[in-house]
Formats: sequence, C-alpha cells, structure tokens
Amino acid sequence: MKRILLALATLSLATVVLAATEAHTNALIDRIKPSGNVCVSGEPCDTAQVTTTTVAQAARDGATVYQQACLACHMTGAAGAPVMGNAGAWAPRIDKGLETLVANAISGIGAMPAKGGCGNCSDEEIAAATEYLVNNSR
Ligand code: HEC
Repeated sequence: MKRILLALATLSLATVVLAATEAHTNALIDRIKPSGNVCVSGEPCDTAQVTTTTVAQAARDGATVYQQACLACHMTGAAGAPVMGNAGAWAPRIDKGLETLVANAISGIGAMPAKGGCGNCSDEEIAAATEYLVNNSR
C-alpha cells in the first residue's frame, strides 16, 4: 500500500514538473519571438496587425482635428480667424446654427480655405472640429 501511494505521489509530482516546464518553454518562446510581423497580402495575418489598421482608419475626434488642422488660424487669429474661446467673436457665428457653420467650414468661407486646407479631413472630422471650436467658444 505504501509503495502504491509513493508511486502515485511520484507520478503527480512528475506531472507538475512537466506542466511547469511546458509553461516555462512557452514563456521563453514568447520572449524571444520577433517583435514585428510581416503580412503577405492575400494571406491571413496576425490579428494585432488587423486591429492596428482599423484604428489608423478611424475618424479623428474634434480636438485632434482642431490641433492638426485648425489651430494655426483659430488659436492665433491669423487671416482674421475668430479665435477659439473668444465668445464675443463666436456668438454671431453660433447664432447661424451649427449646420451652417459646418457647411461653411467644409466649403470654405472668406479667407478660410475649404476644410481649413486639410486635404485628408473627412466631412465628419470637420464637423467634429467645428463642434469642438463652438463648444469651447461660448
Ligand atoms: C488658414 C487659416 C484657417 C484655418 C487653417 C482654419 N480656419 Fe476656420 N476660419 C478662418 C477664417 C479667416 C474665418 C473667418 C472667415 C470669414 O467669416 O470671413 C474662419 C471661420 C471659421 C468658422 C466660422 C464659419 C462661419 O460660418 O462663420 C468655422 C466654423 C471654422 N472657421 C472652422 C474651422 C475648422 C473646423 C478648421 C480646421 C479643420 C478651420 N476652421 C481651419 C481661417 C482658418
């Protein structure tokens, strides 16, 4: 009976050791694998890569677009642009309604070129940036 128990104990210890070794090996493989992946078009690729692509194509929010495409004029007043935060300058414009402001920002108005000159801005990104400007200028 003692012998059987001992054999059982040895067996389960061996299993534990084996499992630990396998986990260790997996962790090691994980650590030394290359940090980048090459994706071949037409072949399945790493999911992380796919996710990155999706994020890169997502619309930028109003604050981001403002900083990238509007701030140059609307922070300084360059070209006579109404400065963000200047409620007096914005009030008569805000009275026109957000829809009109967005349409003018998209097509350009006075000294402001269409979309503020932002060639890669979508209409919705311009709308978001306009809302951001308006919300910070009341
Ligand atoms: C090159 C300078 C310049 C840039 C860049 C620029 N604007 Fe303007 N913006 C102006 C000027 C100047 C006006 C005032 C035009 C006028 O009323 O004659 C103006 C006016 C506006 C108005 C008020 C429109 C109205 O109907 O009264 C909005 C909204 C606006 N800009 C949004 C934006 C947004 C959003 C961006 C960034 C995507 C941007 N602008 C980038 C110069 C600029």
